[in-house]
Amino acid sequence: MRVLGIETSCDETGVAVYDSEQGLLAQALHSQIARHAEYGGVVPELASRDHLAKLAPMVDQVLEAADTPAEALDAIAYTAGPGLVGALLVGACYATGLARALGKPAIPVHHMEAHLLAPMLEADAPAYPFVALLVSGGHSMLVDVAAVGQYEVIGTTLDDAAGEAFDKTAKLLGLPYPGGPALSALAEQGDATRFKLPRPMLNRPGLDFSFSGLKTAVLMVVRELQGVAGDQPPRPGSTLSDVGRADVAASFQAAIVETLTRKCERALAQTGRQRLVVAGGVGANRALRAALAAACDTSGARVYYPRPEYCTDNGAMIALAGVLRAEAGGEGLPIGAAPRWPLGTPLPERRKRVA
Ligand code: KG4
Ligand code: ZN
Repeated sequence: MRVLGIETSCDETGVAVYDSEQGLLAQALHSQIARHAEYGGVVPELASRDHLAKLAPMVDQVLEAADTPAEALDAIAYTAGPGLVGALLVGACYATGLARALGKPAIPVHHMEAHLLAPMLEADAPAYPFVALLVSGGHSMLVDVAAVGQYEVIGTTLDDAAGEAFDKTAKLLGLPYPGGPALSALAEQGDATRFKLPRPMLNRPGLDFSFSGLKTAVLMVVRELQGVAGDQPPRPGSTLSDVGRADVAASFQAAIVETLTRKCERALAQTGRQRLVVAGGVGANRALRAALAAACDTSGARVYYPRPEYCTDNGAMIALAGVLRAEAGGEGLPIGAAPRWPLGTPLPERRKRVA
C-alpha cells in the first residue's frame, strides 16, 4: 500500500508518502511559526490561508521526490481532527478532492492517533501493547494501546495541556513563541530547586493531569520577583534578571517533568504494560526524556520515542496512520473534519440542523 498523508491541523503543513513495504518515501514540512510569532500564538485564519497556499505545491514536490505519480497512490490520508477547524478543512477538502479525482479512498486520521503511532516510523518500533503519553500544545493524555485502533484513554488533562503550560509560562517570562523549546533551553541554565512549585495531582490517585494551579504558582513567583503587588498583573519577562528567569524556567520544568513521569509510572503499573511510547511536541523535551529513562530503568519498562521531527506535527505520521488503519481493515470512517474528536470514538458526523 502506498499512501499520501496530509497534516494541516494547526500551524504546520505536512505532506508525506509512506509505503507499507518500503517505508517513508518522501516528506515535506512547512512551519508557520514565523508567521504567527508576532501575535504570540497561532492566528487561526492566517493558519488556514497559509495551508491553502502551501499544500498543493508541497504535494507535487513530495510525489515527485517519492517517484510516485498520483495515480499510483492507493489512498489519501488526512488529519480530520482534532484541531483548528479552518485549518483542518483545507487538508480535508484537498485530500477528499484529490481522492475523488483519482477514484481512490480518502482516510480520515485522528491527529492524536497519528502521534501515538509515530514511533512505528522508526526501525526500532515498539510492539503492542503499550502505554502512550501524548503531550502536545493542545492535548495531554495517557492512552492504553492494545493494538492499532484499540485505544483506551486512561488519563487526560482537566485544564491546560502540558505544551500549553510551557507556552504560557514562556510568555510570562518574555520568551519568544513557541515557548516550549525556548523555555527548556533557558531551564538548562537555571536552578530547579530555587522555587518550590506544586506537583499538580500527584497527591491524588488516578492518571489525570491539571496544570492551571502550577501556572498560577509561577505567576505568583514572577510577581514576587518583580515586586509587583498581588492585585496587579506581572510585567512579562523583561523586568526579571536573567538568573531569575532561568531559575523560574528550571523550577517550572522540574515540576511538570516530575508530574508527567510519576503519572507514566502509575499508568504502567496500573495496566501492567512494559512499554511506554512518548509522543507530541513536549516529547522533544530533554529533561522529560532523561526522567522517563531513569524511571523506566528502575521499573524494567522500555521507553520509545519518535525522533524529534516526528514528535512534533508532520505528514509522515499521518501517511503511516493511514497505512496502518487501512491494513487493519474494519469499517471506513465517515469523511469529514471535526475540531473536537475524542480519541477512540467515531469521527463526529455533521449535526443535522433542526428546522
Ligand atoms: O505536537 P505539537 O507539535 O503540536 C500540537 O499538536 O500541539 O506540539 C507543540 C507543543 C508546543 O506547546 C511546544 O511549546 C511544545 O510542544 N514543545 C516543547 C518542546 N518542543 C515543543 N515543550 C517543551 N520542551 C520542548 N523541547
Ligand atoms: Zn500534534
